[in-house]
Amino acid sequence: MYTLKTTALSVLTLALFSCGGDKKTDSIPTATTTETTATTTEAPAAPGTNEYDPKRGLGKWDASNVDVSKFDAAMAAEGKKIAEVKCTSCHKTTDEKLVGPGWKGITTRHTPEWIMNFISNPDPMIDVDPELQKQLELCLVRMPNQGLADNEAREILEYMREIDGAK
Ligand code: HEC
Repeated sequence: MYTLKTTALSVLTLALFSCGGDKKTDSIPTATTTETTATTTEAPAAPGTNEYDPKRGLGKWDASNVDVSKFDAAMAAEGKKIAEVKCTSCHKTTDEKLVGPGWKGITTRHTPEWIMNFISNPDPMIDVDPELQKQLELCLVRMPNQGLADNEAREILEYMREIDGAK
């Protein structure tokens, strides 16, 4: 009985977080475990273990491989075409919400690499990004993966830059 409880300590710890703690741990012998004080706040991922970077998001894009030094009007025009097929059923290009948030101002709220990472693969970022979690609460819909190729994602980013006044 005791040994069962002791070996199940880590499982119990998880259970305490996920279902609000229906057992008291104070009677469990602690001889075999070093006193680890329970985490008191819902801290984000422990330092060093896949810490989420809210400026970059998750994915292969970062400041070194997204070049936005020049505006490319032809690229933006391509992006607009793709967006009209895959995105504008849920997004307006103003600041008004449709199903998802309006795009106006998005390039001032997020880095190019964040946008590229997110639109290429929204799911993993919705799970961890604090801003996206807030939007999910408002929108009540998870943005679906639109299966964008790398060049398509880049073209849409250029279109978003145009919406925000890039010339
Ligand atoms: C079915 C509706 C839907 C479609 C289609 C859709 N989105 Fe979204 N999008 C959302 C929702 C909802 C959110 C808010 C985050 C969430 O809840 O997933 C969002 C969030 C975003 C954001 C972040 C907005 C911000 O202000 O932070 C970007 C960028 C974005 N979408 C781009 C796109 C692009 C590009 C496409 C097309 C390739 C697209 N979306 C297609 C629903 C959609």
